[in-house]
Order: sequence, then C-alpha cells, then structure tokens
Amino acid sequence: MQIKSITTMIGLILLTVLSGCGKSATEKQPSGIIPAPVKIEYGTGKFVLTKNTVWKVETTGQEAIARQLIGQIEKNSGYALAVSYEKGDILFKTDAALAPEAYTLNVTPATIEITAAGLPGFYYATQSLRQLLPGMIADSSSKEVSGWSIPVMSIADHPRFEYRGLMLDVSRFFIPKETVIKIIDAAAMMKINKLHMHLVDDNGWRLEIKKYPELTEVGAWRVDREDYFPARKNQQPGESVTNGGFYTQQEMKEIVAYAAARQIEVIPEIEMPAHTNASLAAYPDLACPVAKKPITVLPGIGGKNSEIIYCAGNERVFEFLEDVIDEVTEIFPSEYIHLGGDEASKTHWKACPKCQARMKAERIPNEEELQSYFMKRMCKYVQQKGKKPMGWDELTNSELPDGVTIFGWQGFGNAALKAARQGHPFIMTPARILYLVRYQGPQWFEPRAYFGNNTLKDVYEYEPVQKEWQPEEAALLKGIQASLWTEFCNSSEDVEYMIFPRLAALAEAAWIPVSGKDWPGFLSRLDHLTGHWEQMGINYAHSMFNLDHMVLPAEKGLKVAISSIRPDLDIRFTTDGSAPDAQSASYTDTLMIDKSVTLKAATFRNGKQMGQTLTLPLQWNKATGKKVTARPNADRLYALTNGVRGSDKHSDFEWCGWYDTDFSFVVDLGTAQTINEVKLGSVTNHGMAVHIPASIELLASDDNQSFSRIGAKKYNQNDIFAEGIYVSDHHFMDLNAKARYVKIVAKNPGVCPQTHVRPNQKIWVYFDEIIIE
Ligand code: ACM
Ligand code: ZN
Repeated sequence: MQIKSITTMIGLILLTVLSGCGKSATEKQPSGIIPAPVKIEYGTGKFVLTKNTVWKVETTGQEAIARQLIGQIEKNSGYALAVSYEKGDILFKTDAALAPEAYTLNVTPATIEITAAGLPGFYYATQSLRQLLPGMIADSSSKEVSGWSIPVMSIADHPRFEYRGLMLDVSRFFIPKETVIKIIDAAAMMKINKLHMHLVDDNGWRLEIKKYPELTEVGAWRVDREDYFPARKNQQPGESVTNGGFYTQQEMKEIVAYAAARQIEVIPEIEMPAHTNASLAAYPDLACPVAKKPITVLPGIGGKNSEIIYCAGNERVFEFLEDVIDEVTEIFPSEYIHLGGDEASKTHWKACPKCQARMKAERIPNEEELQSYFMKRMCKYVQQKGKKPMGWDELTNSELPDGVTIFGWQGFGNAALKAARQGHPFIMTPARILYLVRYQGPQWFEPRAYFGNNTLKDVYEYEPVQKEWQPEEAALLKGIQASLWTEFCNSSEDVEYMIFPRLAALAEAAWIPVSGKDWPGFLSRLDHLTGHWEQMGINYAHSMFNLDHMVLPAEKGLKVAISSIRPDLDIRFTTDGSAPDAQSASYTDTLMIDKSVTLKAATFRNGKQMGQTLTLPLQWNKATGKKVTARPNADRLYALTNGVRGSDKHSDFEWCGWYDTDFSFVVDLGTAQTINEVKLGSVTNHGMAVHIPASIELLASDDNQSFSRIGAKKYNQNDIFAEGIYVSDHHFMDLNAKARYVKIVAKNPGVCPQTHVRPNQKIWVYFDEIIIE
C-alpha cells in the first residue's frame, strides 16, 4: 500500500463514507463512532456544515483543537472555516462540573454545542465529530463543503478507564518516526490516551542520549538477519551491523508534541536491569565482569547472551542510568517513566563478585531481592525527578518499590494483583489477550509469530476486573493496554497489520461501561472506521474475515465445524475441489464427513468474498475418526486422527504436543485390521525448541494389554536438533501386521544443547496425525 503524506491522509479521512447514511436516525448507534459513546440519542434533522460555518472557542487551547479538525476539513474542501472568540455555529463551552475526560455533543439543525471541563473532553468531542462527519462528498475535486451534515443527536460521553494504552516495542523493530505519527493519529481518533514506548531492549537502543553517544552509535545497530526471530544467530566476529535506527532527541520531542496535541501521553520505557544487551554492547563495563565479551546487539532472542544484564554491584551502572533518566526527563513531559524490570536472569549476579559484595554490604538475602534493591533505587531517582515509576509484574517477585505502578502481563495479567494487594496502582496488559504479537486470526492465513491466538474478538471481550477481586483491588486498576512486541515486524506495514484493527477493540473495551459491550454493533462501526484507515493508508489486517476450522473424530466419521468470529457473514463451501463462490452451499451447521474430500470455504457478504479461501483436505485412512488415549494425557488428542495435517505452525490447533516428557498413545481401530504402513507427522521449529522425539516405538495389540513391537526409530543429535521450520514424517513400512490397537511410544530428547539458540531449554514434541494403511 502506498503511504501518503500525513496531511493528505488526514484530509482524505473526510472522504470516507460513514455509517448513518441511508439508515434511520433511531437505529442503534448509526454513528460509526469507536469507542461507542456512553449515551447517544437521536433527533430529527441535521446540521449542515458550510463554508460559512464558524467555530466559537473560549481559549487558545480550544482553538488549537478546533483548528486540527478545521485543517482536515480544509484539505478536502479548500475552505478554511473561521474561528471566533465571540460567536459561531460550532460552540465550545467549558463546563467545570464535567469529569476531566468527559464531553457532551449536542447537534441541532442550527448549532453544534460541545461542552467539556477541559481540553481532553473538547478533543474527544472533535474526534467523535471527525468520525461522525458523513463522507457524502463523493467528488472531492469539487471542493464543496455544502452537503456535509451531521444528524441531530445528543451525546454524553466519558471513559471507563483513565489509562487506555498502546505499547510500541521500537527496539525489536525500529518503527520510523512517520509511522509512529500515523499510529498516534489513528489511536487518538479512538481516544487512546497513553503511548508506552519500549525504547530499549537487547535488540536496539532507540533514543539519542547526548552524554552517551555510543548508545545509539553502537547500541542502535545490529546484524541483519532475514530469518525467523527466535532462530536468528548472534553476531559473529567481523560481521557488519546494518539493521537499526534511533530517534534523535529532536525527533522524539516532535513525536511527544504531536501526541500531546492529541491528548496522548508518551511514556518512555528504559528497561533495566535485563533486556540490555544493546546498551551493554556500547558500554560493556556496565555488565557484570563475569559476563562473556564481546557483548553485541542481539538480532534475535540471543541464547545465553540474553542473560547478560547490568551489574547491580557497580556504582557506575547507577550513575549511567541516572544520567539517562536526567535526559529522558527533559524529553518526555510525561507523568510516568517505565523502568521495565521483567525477565531478569540472575545467572551473572550469582557469579559476580561485585553483585555478591553488594548483597553482603546491604544485607540482601538473595538475588531476587538484589533486583528489588536495584529497582527501588532507580524508582526513587525517578520520583526525585518528579515522575511516577512503572514496572512489569516481575517486580512483585521481591519487595516492591514505593509508589510504583505495575503492568500485569503474566497469568492473564493477574500477577499484578500481588501489587494491588499491597496498594499499588496497576494496568492490565495480559499476554494471553492483549499482546498484539500473537496471531489475530486463523493461523493458516497469518504471518508467523511465536504461538497462540489473540483475536479481535478476544481483545474486544476482554474484561480485566475478575469476580474474585476485592473492591479495593479493583479500585487500583488504572486501565488496560494493548502491547505490540515487534519480533515479527520487518516493515511499517507489518506494524500496522498487527495493531489494526485490534487497537479499535482495545479502545472500545477501555472506554465503554462493562454493560455496553456489543460485538455485532462494534463490527458494523468498525467497517466504517476501516474506511477511514484505508484513506489514511493504514495497512490493517483482514483476518476477521478468515475462517477457523475444527475437525473432530466422531463415531462414524469426522465432525467438521467451520466458524468465523464475525456473525454477520455468510459461509459458503464446496467439497468437490472447486473454489467457493456466493452460490456455493451455505454452511449453517457442522458437517459429518466419512470419506476423503477437500473442503473449501470462505466468508461472503452481499455476494462478495470477504476472507481468504480455507482449503481443508480431509484424508481418510484406517485411523481416521478413531479414538485415542494417551499417557500422559494431552490437550489435542483429536488432532491425531482427524484426517487433517498440521501446517508448519505448531500452534495451529492441528498438533498434539507433549512438553518435556516421554509419552505414549494408543489408537483403537475398533476391530482387528491389517497394518502395512504407519506414518506419523512431526514438526520442527528449532527457534521455539520444537523438535522430533529421540525415539519412536510402534507396537500392536489385540487386547490393549500385551503389545508387541512392530517398528522402531531412533534419532541422533543431528537429526533431532536440525535447524529450520518444517513438517517431517516418520514412516514405518512393510509391517505386515494385524491388530486392533496401535501404540506409539516416544522419548523426549531432553534439553536443547549448548550450541542451540535456546541452550538448556526443555523441548516440545508434536504429532499432527497418525496415518495407518
Ligand atoms: C514482557 O512481556 N516480558 C513484559
Ligand atoms: Zn555484577
């Protein structure tokens, strides 16, 4: 997609056809506003915007907000609408009685009156207006404003949460300033008010610090590696570093100012004590002296190098970090500074004489509490600078620094509750639901990620407050945040694809009351908002139009379910290999299949195909549809005999896996069958420590008691730890057996070897299918 200039993009928004056109005024939420206003009532008639429409403001702050929308209107119309401090048609009126971010918007045929207590409310009113402006100017070249109208209505609106956030990881992938600006514009339109920038990590330091120029001269650059992030090998001697980038202080100030004008606070995160290979590559003396040198900026997960962290026994580390915070404080006027604190390996601290001396001198009982010492000291410094410190939920593993706000990401975010119980404010960004790094739709159609799905619907339905929470704990919840880790982003388009449309779901979940959730209503409003995004040149994902499938072994065949997260689409399918079209059979309920077929299906709306075609080959063999039992049990035994092969994504729900354990499973063929061939499918994803088993035994029995061995395979270290991502089959031929029960016994390979990208890591073994002929 061609990226237009920011100003053109903003201007083009107004060309978008919004909802409301052609719908009755009484229909629920025809406005197309996301997040949905808390209260909205419709009247009859409309306010028509003309070239003579005047904006009446009371303050220069209001004028600046009005002028943003005026500028957007001017881009399409050529008309610069006037602003007056005396009288006008669109009126800003301060009402100090309203809550800080609340606003009202009253549209009559003669005027639009906006009330708010302050600038946030006025800004949000204009963003609702921006989304309300119907895009009926079909011909932008006519430069005519006349005919732009807003239905008579009255809105009273305010957010549920004061913290409505997006995190951008600009370390794993350096997101260009122009893209950050574009994301801020689209986020602000949805009343997101916090942009948490994860500025530093093992993979790059992204902010100019004048006192330490090598942070960006060295720390912002790494070797270029094309392959899958977790499989990327560390920099080798002599390799040049060509991938990276950073924001100058001037550029960052421009981002901060652009965001501030849109009521977004940019919160910088300066990670410590771990995730710091980038700064340590520049200043290796800040690592524990026991750490292996040279330290380099990591292109991937880094293996053992990710254990290298700041030395907690070295005073120069604290001087350095305080100097960095001094400059950060000058760049970011934010209330908060985030200090990270997650995933800090204690390997080096345990072996480091300086760290051990610190523990002795300060009477610190263990390395976890040494992290507490580290974080408390830096949090205190942040507070001395007049800022509030933040950190990840690992801070609850030891004594919490005073006044720190905690981000819950582990265990559905509930790790943060430990902080709430100690009176700390917290924000929920659970990895399982709000991490945008995970797959947003059926995995067969998505670019590769680590594992796991966080769909648009998952994000929309997210409710942070749990029944078992005490009221005083719930009262400390400041809000929710979508967090984009960028391991799998290699372009601005990738970044946009992962953020949109899921940020719209987050924005609505953060704004509307619990009782206001309306998934179908959200989708129909989203369809209009995506029209805006198209005009803004945002590469949003269409994953919500793709189909999931679930094929389960049933008594006499396979039970095939196809589903879409969108209830407003038709599903059409074929079983004769042809491409589905709008005239194909309509899918309304599960299908029973009892022979080899290729099922193809897709979503349609008004006769138009909306998503990609799902191709589901169902391949029959003697094991298909048969019952499987396993020791130990596993979650997805159904996958082994459901006739569907897995893709090379081990978390696509077609793979049955066992972690760090030997295992066995038995297929009951129902009656004694001749067995000539058995094929078992495996997946290897070396970067994720997914490997083939060390050995497989194939056994047969007539009574499920005494089994005889009919085949065996043994693999060596080279076979097991081969690199890459691929599906491979274990093929047992010429078996010449007859039995009712077929058993597989597999041995886990143990742990990944020292030369692996994940040294010492325990291993997953997966099978997708047992094929018996
Ligand atoms: C995190 O995901 N390590 C905060
Ligand atoms: Zn140390």
